[in-house]
Amino acid sequence: MGHEYGDEPPSNTSDNRNFYEVMEARVARRGFLLGGLATLAAGVFAGASLPASPARAREASRLIGFKPVPVSFADRVVVPDGYSVQILAPTGTPISGTLPAFRSGANSGADQEHQIGQHHDGIHFFPIDGSSDDGLLVVNHEYIEPRFLHAAKAGYRGVAHDNHSVVYGPDGRRDDDEVRMEMAAHGVSIYRATRRSDGSWAVVADPRNRRVTAGTPMRIAGPVRGADHVRTRFSPDGTMTRGTVNNCAHGVTPWNTYLAAEENWAAYFCNTGADVPREHARYGVPGHPRGGRYGWHLARAGADEHIRFDASIKGASSVEDYRNEPNTFGWMVEIDPFDADAVPIKRTHLGRFAHEGVVFGPAVEGAPIVCYSGDDSRFEYIYKLVSEAAYVPGRTDGSILDRGTLYVARFDDDGGGEWLALAPGQNGLTPDNGFADLADILVNTRAAADHVGATKMDRPEWGAVDPNTGAVYFALTNNTRRTQAQVDAVNPRAVNNFGQIVRWTYADGDHANPRFEWDLFVLAGDARHSAVNADTALNDDNIFACPDGLWFDKDSRLWIQTDMGDMSPDYEGPLKPFGMNMLLAADPATGEIRRFMTGPWGQECTGVVTTPDGRTMFVNFQHPGAHASAQQFAAGDYGSGFPDYDGTVPRSATVVITKDDGGVIGS
Ligand code: FEO
Ligand code: CA
Ligand code: CA
Repeated sequence: MGHEYGDEPPSNTSDNRNFYEVMEARVARRGFLLGGLATLAAGVFAGASLPASPARAREASRLIGFKPVPVSFADRVVVPDGYSVQILAPTGTPISGTLPAFRSGANSGADQEHQIGQHHDGIHFFPIDGSSDDGLLVVNHEYIEPRFLHAAKAGYRGVAHDNHSVVYGPDGRRDDDEVRMEMAAHGVSIYRATRRSDGSWAVVADPRNRRVTAGTPMRIAGPVRGADHVRTRFSPDGTMTRGTVNNCAHGVTPWNTYLAAEENWAAYFCNTGADVPREHARYGVPGHPRGGRYGWHLARAGADEHIRFDASIKGASSVEDYRNEPNTFGWMVEIDPFDADAVPIKRTHLGRFAHEGVVFGPAVEGAPIVCYSGDDSRFEYIYKLVSEAAYVPGRTDGSILDRGTLYVARFDDDGGGEWLALAPGQNGLTPDNGFADLADILVNTRAAADHVGATKMDRPEWGAVDPNTGAVYFALTNNTRRTQAQVDAVNPRAVNNFGQIVRWTYADGDHANPRFEWDLFVLAGDARHSAVNADTALNDDNIFACPDGLWFDKDSRLWIQTDMGDMSPDYEGPLKPFGMNMLLAADPATGEIRRFMTGPWGQECTGVVTTPDGRTMFVNFQHPGAHASAQQFAAGDYGSGFPDYDGTVPRSATVVITKDDGGVIGS
C-alpha cells in the first residue's frame, strides 16, 4: 500500500505534554487516582480486551429499521434488502462548456475543465426551491491517481503502485497537458441533478454548473488578507491566489453556501531552500525538488501557473517569486453554488492546517456563529471559530467568519475540556514568543496551538452536530504511531489501529462557551477491542474501524463512513476483519449501530448526504482500484471494475441510494 490507513503525514514535533504525562505528574504529586474513562483506557492501552460485556438487549431503535449487511469482500456496492443503487456522475462526466464526452485516457486538460473531477469526497445537495427532486450537487475531489487518469497513454502502464506516481520525461519534466488535466481533476464540481419520472437521477445542463479547480482565481479574506505572508508575484498586495487542492470534506453554512476544506495541500509544493520557514516546515512542505505529489512545477513549458508550486526563494523579494504560495493554501474555501460568477473566498480566520472539513453549531438569531474544524494529521488538533458578530438570518453572509476568535481544544482527563483562544496577547501568543499579530498566528495555526498546550489527537476527521441535541461528534480515525507513553483519556490506545468517535456538549447549551464536557461515543474495532458508550462491544452487525466521514440526517441518524485505506481481499493486517470500507448508521440516543452499505475493492467511502425529505441518499466511493499493484496495472488489471464493470479503468463516483418503498433512508 502506498499509504497507511489514509494519507496524512505527521508533522507535529512540538513537545506538548499529553494526558498520560500529566496524570503521572499528578499521581507523583498528590496520589491522584485514575478513574472513569482513564480506567477504561488503561484496559485498552495495556493491550487487554475490554471486559466482555453481557450481550445486553438494547432498546430497539426507532430510527434504524434496516437489516444490517455483513462484512464484505466483494467488488461491488452492497446495500440492505429493500434498497437500490444507481451510479451518478463518475470521473469524466461532462457538466459544463460544450459537454465534452468522457473518453478514458483520451480526454485533454481542456476537456477535464468541464468534467467531473477525480476522487470524490465531501458532498452536499443544495435544493432548488426547496425541492427534494431537483438541486445542485456540490462535490469535492480530494486528490488524483495519475495512472488511472492517464491510463490509456503511453508510459502509464509501467508506473509503480503509488497514488502519487507520475511519468517524467527524459528531461525530468512533465507533459504540460497532463498537468493541466490533473489540476482540473482537482477542486470542486457543481452540477444540477434531477430526479426523473422513472425515479432515477440524472446530471442536467444548467448555467450554474461549473468546475472550481487547482487553477481558479480566489480571493483571500479575513485577517490574513493583505498580510506579508501571502504577497506573491501573482498578487503583490496579498489579496488573491489561484486554486484549491486536496479538498477532503466540506461544510454547509447557515446562509446556504459551501465550504471546501484544503487538507493535505503541503505535498503539492516543494521548497528546496536550506532555511525553510515554520509556515512551511510545520506543515510538511517537502524539500525534495519534485515535491511530494505530482511535480506540477516541473511542467515542461514553465508557465507561471505551474512554477508557483515551487516555493523556493528565487527572486529578490516575495513579490518576485512564489516563496509565499503555500501560505495561500491550508484554508477553508467558501463557494456560492448558486452564482457561477462568484469568486471563491479563502476564509482565513478558520485557521491554516490540514482542514478535514467544517461543521456549524446551531445558528441562533442574535448569537455568534460557531463552527468546528479538525486538523487531520497524527497528533494534531480540533479547532472552533466563534464569530464576533451575531447571526441575522437573511442578512448574514460569509464575511461574518472574518472577525471573531479561533480556539483550539484541550481535552482534560476528567471529561471536561477547554477552548484555548488563539488570539494576540492571549495564552502567551505575543511577539516575544514569536507571534507578531493575528495574521501571523493564523498562518501558523499549528505553531500557535502547540504553544497554548492543546491536546494532540488521533487524526481528527469529520465532525457532525446532532440537530436535536446540539452534541458535537468528531471522528478520530486512527493513529498507529501513538505510543503507550502518549495515550490519554480521549486518545486511549497506543498503536491505535481502529479509531474512536468523541462527542462533547456544553452545560448551558451555548456553543460559544469556552468550557465543554466530553465522552467517547464509540471505540471502534472488532468485538474484542470496541465499546459503545463505554459499554457494549461491537458485533457482526456493526464492527468497523477508522471512522472518517460523519453526518447527521434530519432525524438524528449518525452516518459513519470508514477509511481503512485501499482495502481489497489481498489485504493482510489488523483491518482484515472489517472487509471493504463501509457506511454505517447509528442512533446516538441508544448507541445502536448497523452496517448499511459496503463498497467495492480499493475504495474509501467518503461523502454522504440526503435530499431534504431523506428519501434519496448520495454517497461517494473514492479511488476504487487504488490497491492494484504495478504488475496488475501493467497487465491491464485495474484492481476493481467499479463502476462500469466492463474492463475499463475504475472511477470514483457518486452513488444514489433509494428505498424501494420510497421511504426515508435508514428507517
Ligand atoms: Fe482526507 Fe482526512 O481524509
Ligand atoms: Ca480519508
Ligand atoms: Ca476524509
